[in-house]
Amino acid sequence: MDNELILVIDFGGQYNQLIARRVREHNIYCEVISYKTPVDEIKAKNPNGIIFTGGPNSVYLDNSPRMSKEIFEIGVPILGICYGIQFMVYGLGGIIGKANDNAAAEFGRTDCEFDLSCPAFDGLKQNSVVWMSHNDYIEKLPEGFKAAGHSDKCPYAAIADEKRKFYGVQFHPEVNHTEQGKEMLCNFLYKVCGCKGDWTMANYAKTAIAQIREKVGSGKVLLALSGEIGRVDSSVACALLSKAVGDQLTCVFVDHGFMRKNEGDEVEAAFRDWNVNFVRVDASDRFISKLEGVSDPETKRKTIGEEFIRVFEEEAKKIGKVDYLVQGTIYPDVIESGLGDAAVIKSHHNVGGLPDCVDFKEIIEPLRLLFKDEVRKLGTELGLADYLVWRQPFPGPGLAIRIIGEITREKLKILQDADYIFREEIAAAGLDRSINQYFAVLTNLRSVGVMGDDRTYNYTLALRGVTTTDFMTADFARVPYEVLERVSVRVVNEVGNINRVVYDVTSKPPATIEFE
Ligand code: XMP
Repeated sequence: MDNELILVIDFGGQYNQLIARRVREHNIYCEVISYKTPVDEIKAKNPNGIIFTGGPNSVYLDNSPRMSKEIFEIGVPILGICYGIQFMVYGLGGIIGKANDNAAAEFGRTDCEFDLSCPAFDGLKQNSVVWMSHNDYIEKLPEGFKAAGHSDKCPYAAIADEKRKFYGVQFHPEVNHTEQGKEMLCNFLYKVCGCKGDWTMANYAKTAIAQIREKVGSGKVLLALSGEIGRVDSSVACALLSKAVGDQLTCVFVDHGFMRKNEGDEVEAAFRDWNVNFVRVDASDRFISKLEGVSDPETKRKTIGEEFIRVFEEEAKKIGKVDYLVQGTIYPDVIESGLGDAAVIKSHHNVGGLPDCVDFKEIIEPLRLLFKDEVRKLGTELGLADYLVWRQPFPGPGLAIRIIGEITREKLKILQDADYIFREEIAAAGLDRSINQYFAVLTNLRSVGVMGDDRTYNYTLALRGVTTTDFMTADFARVPYEVLERVSVRVVNEVGNINRVVYDVTSKPPATIEFE
């Protein structure tokens, strides 16, 4: 059976990948493509439906993204979202009112009333809250369209041409703030486009493996791992590649020495079981001496990133000519690293860190469009052990960014031991799956304590636990006091040099998950 396909046509909005994710949550495969894609190419893909995304522009601007009007003639259902609805209206002969003569701009939560006889809103509540974000507005509908939803300020919050199966919403159904957004998308996909939801991770794996095989041919592939060796992303990328090209793949693990306790050995053992060439380089001395005297977080990250590339280049030379470089980049890495228009919050060294003096033909990022939860599903599908699939994320620079300020070997050992205890207790309390990421941070705060009858002046350890689905926003995990108490008692007694343990109760935003 041919896979169902929804095409998300990217007009430059910030939620485009999120729309794709929402579609896939309904078990329908979906691709994000540029609005510049020729209509013939779109037609050839034979999609079941098309979604036009939002975008920051006004349809009247000279440089605003537009595609050929032939898109409306290929006989495929279309849902236009935000800019997408405006492009649809404009393209089909309606009129868009410009922002500057507009009292109808809406931002944020807005009450909306829907026409439930319209298939896109079938079975929903008549009144619900939606998330609006628009200046321009629809002034006149094109022929064949009717209003299917309105707010106080916006008579055409939702529109429909049921005959041609064209629908549009001025708000964002893909964000959680839109109460019935999920159901609306579901209606469009199932009731309007007639999808059945036959896309599974098994299909994804099959397709990805075939695509990688075709691309790589008999070429040599290199997977560079550093601190993120323990990340589920790298493991899944490795499994995928090993199924696709077997021992044409070499994994180079640059061990920077900032791994969690025992972690390097554990993961190396797992990788060795696979049908790939595995090289582990112990570069811990080089890294720690490069970081001497460095306490600024960004300098730490950049220093580690650069040193990683140096070590990696040396290893790559030993391996000889390589055709492809694999990176386990996933979508949140891409946006948070500022490769798009988003502000750079932290430089993730595992994104875009392609060493330019090593000669690769191309980079392969088989997980670039997947979210964490999808990567996990894929891992299970590929037969990875649970402890790899459910491993919590670990930053490329490792514990180096969990030691606030300057790093010393002594501090590293203290943190490894304390973090190990925290992890043990979280697992013992059965919380290791419900808390998405948890770790200890060695602060550079020292304070006075009393042990026995003596005064101590030692470090404060911070514990952090978060719940999140995408790691772009997160809430602090409600770890029971008894568990925190056990960790605190054990850390102070067993580790040494720590006389105070605190728990971080900030969410992201305003904090980030990592401290540096
Ligand atoms: P923040 O601290 O930005 O972290 O809220 C979001 C998620 O990303 C992980 N993280 C990294 N992952 N390389 C990575 O591969 C990095 O440099 C890096 N920095 C942060 C972090 O652990 C969390 O899961």
